[in-house]
Amino acid sequence: MKILVTGGAGYIGSHTALALLEAGHDVVVVDNLYNASPESLRRVGELAGVEPVLEVADLTDEAALDDVFARHAPDAVIHFGGLKAVGESTRIPLDYYFNNTSGTISLLRAMERAGVKTIVFSSSATVYGEHNPYPYMEHMEIGAMNPYGRTKEQIEDVLTDIAAADGEWRVALLRYFNPVGAHESGRIGEDPQGIPNNLMPFIAQVAVGRREKLQIFGNDYDTADGTCLRDYIHVVDLAEGHVAALNYLTEHPGAHRWNLGGGAGTSVLEMLHAFEKAVGRELPYEFAPRRPGDLPAFWADASNAKMDLEWSVTRSIETMCEDHWRWQKNNPNGYAN
Ligand code: NAD
Ligand code: WQD
Repeated sequence: MKILVTGGAGYIGSHTALALLEAGHDVVVVDNLYNASPESLRRVGELAGVEPVLEVADLTDEAALDDVFARHAPDAVIHFGGLKAVGESTRIPLDYYFNNTSGTISLLRAMERAGVKTIVFSSSATVYGEHNPYPYMEHMEIGAMNPYGRTKEQIEDVLTDIAAADGEWRVALLRYFNPVGAHESGRIGEDPQGIPNNLMPFIAQVAVGRREKLQIFGNDYDTADGTCLRDYIHVVDLAEGHVAALNYLTEHPGAHRWNLGGGAGTSVLEMLHAFEKAVGRELPYEFAPRRPGDLPAFWADASNAKMDLEWSVTRSIETMCEDHWRWQKNNPNGYAN
């Protein structure tokens, strides 16, 4: 199939573009390069032996999207494009609602005009909010706690509604837990701009000497070592989950939702120590106050994805750290080398 991948130059998108090419699909990327470099796709091409087509366009520009659909005639869309920083979304919510929610609606309108009705969407575990017990299960009532999460919830609703109204739509809502790691080649990986918001890229930048020390936000949670537990998932496992979801949709119309996670919690300290093992030395850290909005612990019930998609994670915390470190060590400044 020919797959149009929005946000395909970004972190998860570039790994998924590679997985799609390896599975024999053709890939066309639509990205405005707001948070990505075309170098990621050049390297995907190097690894796959065939380079994905890049169309630099903004998802809120319907005329540009019509043009892309007319010229490439894709069979399906995988939709990563959007803004993703929780803290930033509370400061500039309108940008998040415009870029994420309106951007998705313009994408869906362009898809409908082009007669393309298959879409895999990047949702997030953040939609489960703070009221659900863990492990999180897909049937639980959702309720995000910040504008970023609410854009994911809104988009899930839009996609569910259009699939209910028109039986030709095939929709996969994939709720990612905490994606980390990099392709084993060390050629593509996560390249955050500015100070990383997330744990793993921050640790990696400490290890490579770009940051002085890790601050661990809270060591007084009600967990075994006092730090928060999260369900970290290797980005290549996650990418493979998209290929599996796409395969499922070819046989199953309608809207479907799956957690993509490993199904277990790892603490911040455990993650730091696993990364230290990959690096081969201790890394500096200090305990700092809790970060507002953080939940003590959550992880996925990953059984539905296993049953329906015949997909589950295969890469360990150790592999996540080794692969992330190989990428960071070989590319200390990301794609700006
Ligand atoms: P990323 O920022 O690396 O990738 C997003 C890509 O979308 C970037 O390449 C960016 O340039 C592009 N983009 C943004 N707005 C656009 C627009 N209006 N038009 C065209 N392109 C646009 O982020 P990522 O970590 O790869 O995340 C991919 C998706 O997965 C996002 O939707 C994100 O919300 C979701 N997600 C990420 C995580 C995570 O922790 N990384 C967790 C859950 C869900
Ligand atoms: C993990 C743990 C922090 C940085 C976020 C989004 C979520 C999803 C994934 C998009 C927490 C601790 C972190 C640091 C630390 N994204 N930490 N020092 O918050 O679970 O999830 O990314 O959908 O929506 O909220 O991930 O990596 O930021 O934090 O101690 O410098 O690491 O407190 O316990 P989080 P994270």
